[in-house]
Amino acid sequence: MAEQTQLSGPDLGAGIDAATLADGATLLGHAHGEPVLLARIGNEFLAIGATCSHYGGPLAEGVVVGDTVRCPWHHACFSLRTGEALRAPALNPVASWTVERRGESVVVTNKAERDPLSATYPVTVDRGAMPNDVVIVGAGAAGTAAAEMLRRCAYDGRITVIDDDTGSPYDRPNLSKDYLAGNAPEEWIPIRPEGFYAEHRVDIVRGRVSSVDVNAKTVSVAGQPPRRYDALLLATGSDPIHLGIPGDDQPHVHYLRSLADSRSIIAAVKDGQRAVVVGASFIGLEVAASLRARNLLVDVVAPEKLPLERVMGEHLGAFIQSLHESKGVTFHLGRKPRRIDASSVTLDDGAQLPADIVVIGVGVRPRLDLAEKAGLAIDRGVSVNEWLEASVPGVYAAGDIARWPDPHTGDRIRVEHWVVAERQGQVAARNILGARERFDQVPFFWSAHYDVSINYVGHAEKWDRVVVDGDAANRDVVVRFMRGDKALAVASIFRDKESLNAEIEMERFGGRGTGEEGRGNAGSEPRPSS
Ligand SMILES: Cc1cc2nc3c(=O)[nH]c(=O)nc-3n(C[C@H](O)[C@H](O)[C@H](O)COP(=O)(O)OP(=O)(O)OC[C@H]3O[C@@H](n4cnc5c(N)ncnc54)[C@H](O)[C@@H]3O)c2cc1C
Ligand code: FES
Repeated sequence: MAEQTQLSGPDLGAGIDAATLADGATLLGHAHGEPVLLARIGNEFLAIGATCSHYGGPLAEGVVVGDTVRCPWHHACFSLRTGEALRAPALNPVASWTVERRGESVVVTNKAERDPLSATYPVTVDRGAMPNDVVIVGAGAAGTAAAEMLRRCAYDGRITVIDDDTGSPYDRPNLSKDYLAGNAPEEWIPIRPEGFYAEHRVDIVRGRVSSVDVNAKTVSVAGQPPRRYDALLLATGSDPIHLGIPGDDQPHVHYLRSLADSRSIIAAVKDGQRAVVVGASFIGLEVAASLRARNLLVDVVAPEKLPLERVMGEHLGAFIQSLHESKGVTFHLGRKPRRIDASSVTLDDGAQLPADIVVIGVGVRPRLDLAEKAGLAIDRGVSVNEWLEASVPGVYAAGDIARWPDPHTGDRIRVEHWVVAERQGQVAARNILGARERFDQVPFFWSAHYDVSINYVGHAEKWDRVVVDGDAANRDVVVRFMRGDKALAVASIFRDKESLNAEIEMERFGGRGTGEEGRGNAGSEPRPSS
């Protein structure tokens, strides 16, 4: 999925004067026909591939922290020493290059590449206490990232991932964006090529887990004998909330969670048809944008006065509305649908909107039934501790279902973000192997609307003031959601470096500061360099 990167900058294979690169700085160049990022950390020179292995983000425009670099697009983190993908959403390493010192020059020479699941993740685990059997329920973001991480930590035992969706695992965020718009080919969608998991001895079992017995340490799938586990990860994700109004069960009414859902919308739509999207959520609005790209006439119906205002505030909510309106979307805000008929949707004020297709995006509900029946502690999600362990030892939960103690807000939170789910899966896997690592990463998500991507770091359910720096209308803005002097969350458009620096500040200070994170006016070691 990586995009082709043009070669630019100096020929690092021919060498450069070492003095031209300051401590903490990076340089984009190339060696032997490939883009290379050269970094200086003290007197060490390190070089890795310059293109992020997630969606091809330019690592040279990222931020260096210690001996790592973070991608400007969706905040993946790579080791500058080894190219290892230390944090999702990147799952594959980038190449690492040998750098030789020759007199006053540094020269990039040999390239080393390795298998994505090579057992090289830098972690200390308790080899004496490793489980023999790890069972993971859910082959989504959290479940598959966990399975992969187990192998990357040199776990050699059995890994079974059970999922009731025959198409998984796939790139779920793409289902409402490029894939639905018709701009992403099929081969972008699977997380891994055919045969990848079998090759790495990860057994993917198709079927619905109907129960978990935490005393016998077994999980049951209908029609199969119970499976024993030593460690269990629940990563069952969410289900779309159903509207519950007359007519919402007709064939032209769609929800969007799975690849099959996205394909059925694609199969149903035709150029020039009328679509009604119910809900101005991220998914609803992304669907609206994608259907406009397929030249449908789109009406969006939602009860709020501005789309996304509850999460993004007034400034960004108003911008998102005007952006969609400029692309031809018609909003019916402050309204709810009352009834869906074969070719129309009737609103609560009696208005009738013609509709060949209806897509409902009114939020999701975490799939907690298994955890509830198993007797795990539930608190509007599966209650987990800082190590992502549920109320029964040996049982972990990650992703959309997990509510964890977030050190940045001081609250117990649950979020529905792809990157958080993957990272929690990764941390849970390391803890299953005895790493005892706190999940203290700052939540991150992105949402794409036409050619505008909004990045959001942190978590703010309520705030007492909003600081706007720039103007969303110019596609150049950072919005900080403040509680007292603390930035709980930072949303941005085309301010990638500030978004990364805000994340780093929150990691260091829990967001306390002047609200000027990313401007280089606060900080202690290790300093991000730009
Ligand atoms: C269309 C769409 C677009 C999105 N876009 C973004 C985005 O841009 N940015 C972002 O941050 N987030 C986005 N999200 C949210 C993100 O995809 C989720 O937060 C993430 O997938 C959660 O990961 P998870 O592992 O918890 O669950 P999932 O990825 O949902 O995986 C759970 C899996 O468990 C399976 N399962 C559940 N119960 C059982 C059972 N009893 N037995 C067997 N299998 C079971 C399910 O079938 C599923 O395959 C989007 C979501 C959707 C639907
Ligand atoms: S492109 Fe680098 S994290 Fe997505």
